[in-house]
Amino acid sequence: MMTTKMAASIMEHGEDAFRKMFKFYKRRNPPPDFSEVINFSKPCNDKVFNCELNSTPISEEDVSKAGLRPVTDWKAFGLHGYPGFIFISNPFLPGSQQYWVKQCLKIYPQKPNVCNLDMHMSSVETENIWERSIDVIRRKGCGKREAKTLLEKLRWVTLGYHYDWNSKTYSPDHYTPFPKELHSLSHRVAAACGFPGFNAEAGILNYYRSDSSLGIHVDESELDHTRPLLSFSFGQTSVFLLGGTKREERPTAMFMHSGDIMVMSGPSRLLYHAVPCIVPAPAGNVLPPCMGQRPEAQDDDIIQSVSEEDWEVCSWYLQTSRVNVTVRQVLGSGQDFPGAQASHLSSCEKSEEETPKNMKRKSKSGYERDT
Ligand code: OGA
Ligand code: MN
Repeated sequence: MMTTKMAASIMEHGEDAFRKMFKFYKRRNPPPDFSEVINFSKPCNDKVFNCELNSTPISEEDVSKAGLRPVTDWKAFGLHGYPGFIFISNPFLPGSQQYWVKQCLKIYPQKPNVCNLDMHMSSVETENIWERSIDVIRRKGCGKREAKTLLEKLRWVTLGYHYDWNSKTYSPDHYTPFPKELHSLSHRVAAACGFPGFNAEAGILNYYRSDSSLGIHVDESELDHTRPLLSFSFGQTSVFLLGGTKREERPTAMFMHSGDIMVMSGPSRLLYHAVPCIVPAPAGNVLPPCMGQRPEAQDDDIIQSVSEEDWEVCSWYLQTSRVNVTVRQVLGSGQDFPGAQASHLSSCEKSEEETPKNMKRKSKSGYERDT
């Protein structure tokens, strides 16, 4: 018979429905059965329905400049039971993902952006992750075993309002300009999903190796939850678990393939979610064919073509990795950070105001990583 103590202990160890499913998909040996995982590129699941997007707010020309197909051609889906959740099955034009991948690997890790390596290395050492890695990576092609490069050790990068992983907050004191091109991409995708005027203010980029996962969490540090959260995936396929507002609710599992975009908005904005695993790539570790094609960029496009030598490194990296970009609007229009004008508050008053929320965040937004 289960005693109260045992039940309490189970809950302490997080054996709720979400954790169970997380563990199920995280298992390696033997690998889990993926047959229940929703595949939006071949949707044939009762929970999935087609979602009509609004192609009027953005011109066909504007979306193509960001490397996207015309909105009328996008395959967008909703999930019964998850209002506000939108899944867009790879709307990128053939070849254009190359540009976004190159930005994520070569450009966004650069200063003044912040990355995990900054936590235990000097800024001189992390100044040019790409340059310091590529010679070694090119030599690796010759079959030599070498220590992991900085690029291979990269786990996250923050953009705009830099997310503070300890306090689980954004601060007006730690902001650097958000990349213009990623803002444009996000603005256009959000507009098509019914959120005109989306303002990309913070980005968290996650870099997954084949054994990485992202723990169960809710993204609630942004101050305006009426604004959607956008997620872009590139490279290897992962399983994404979308749960409820409580961890006891059984989540829904879905594949995220290269080029897929996910929008969490409305009632789905604050749901528990996690990435339990990267799906083992078939032998040969091939990238989807749409990624191999070279983009045909015009001078006034947002996306620009990627040099053959840069793509060589990016495609080598992606054969065993996944990159996810989440874009967030932190403040509502006209909203300011609390306390921005309230520096007269005593520290005692301040901590009283912030403690309960922070404690909730601690347990809810645990970005546990296992790599
Ligand atoms: C996040 C997140 C999901 C993913 O960064 O908050 O949930 O697919 N990422 O990597
Ligand atoms: Mn998240």
